[in-house]
Amino acid sequence: MPIVPFKEILKDAFDKRYGVAAFNIVNDLTLDAVLSAAEDAHSPVIIQTSVKTVKMIGVDVLYAMWKAMASKAKVPTCIHLDHCPDRAMISACLAEGWDSVLFDASSMPLEENRRQTVEVVAEAQRYGAGVEGEIEGIRGVEDGVGSDAESDRKTLEASLDFVRVTGVDCFAPAIGNAHGVYLKTPTLDVQRVSDITNTIPIPIALHGGTGLTKEQFQDLIARGCAKVNISTALKITYMQSNLAYLREAETKNKWDPLSQFTFVRKAVKEMVSEYLTTFGSVGRA
Ligand code: 13P
Repeated sequence: MPIVPFKEILKDAFDKRYGVAAFNIVNDLTLDAVLSAAEDAHSPVIIQTSVKTVKMIGVDVLYAMWKAMASKAKVPTCIHLDHCPDRAMISACLAEGWDSVLFDASSMPLEENRRQTVEVVAEAQRYGAGVEGEIEGIRGVEDGVGSDAESDRKTLEASLDFVRVTGVDCFAPAIGNAHGVYLKTPTLDVQRVSDITNTIPIPIALHGGTGLTKEQFQDLIARGCAKVNISTALKITYMQSNLAYLREAETKNKWDPLSQFTFVRKAVKEMVSEYLTTFGSVGRA
C-alpha cells in the first residue's frame, strides 16, 4: 500500500472529513521521522519538499531517498512539490517520480495562471501525478518563495472557474492564513472554504498550518481542508532539539552525532504525532 496517488489520499480524507498532514521535510532524518510517526499512528501522510530543499539535495538523490524509505512504509504516502513557480523544476520533479506538484503561478495574471496550470495538469497526468493550484499568493515567504505582502483576494466565482477549467486535484485559497510564525492567532475566512467545497467537492489545501489553534484546524477540516501543511513547526523543532542536544554535549564535552540524530528524530516524531491526532488522521490507514 505504501505509495498511493495524491488524489486518492486526499479523496479519502475529504470524503471522511479528516486532514492529511503534509510536512515539509528538509533531509533524510526528518523524512524518516515523519514516516515513522505516521506508521506508529496508522495515519496517511504527505511528504512535501520545497524547491529550496530539492535544489539543496538534488532531484535524483532526494527522490531515491524518498523511494527507498516510502516503499517500505506501512501507511499511504506520496511526495509533493510545494510552491513551485518554475516550470522546469516542475517538469524535472514529475519526470523523476514526484506524485504531485503545487504550481504556484499566483504572481501571474489570473488568465496566464489558468493557461499554464492547464498545461501543468496535462503534463502531470502523463505521469499519473496530481496538481495543486492557487490563484492568490499565501502571505509569507516559504523557503525563499512568496512575499510578506497580503495578496489580492479573488472572487468566489474566479476560484470556482479556475478549479473547473484547470482540473486541479486540490485547491489552495488565501483565507487570511500565512506561512511562518503568526504574531497573533489569525482571523480566517473559513466560510470561503465552505463556499468552494459546497459548490465543487474539491479537497482544499490549508497552508500556513504552524500556529493555528486546534479548533481552527478542526473547523477547517470539517469544511473540506483535506490537506494541512506544516513546515515552520518542523523547522523549529528540528533546530531547537539540535540546539538543546548540542548545549548538553558542550556541557558534558561528549560529541556523538548518532546520539544527536536519535534525540532529534524523537523530538520531530513527537511533534508530528501531535498534529496527526489534531487532524483526525490517526487510525485511518
Ligand atoms: P507553515 O510554515 O506556516 O507551517 O506553512 C507551511 C506551508 O503552508 C507550506 O506550504
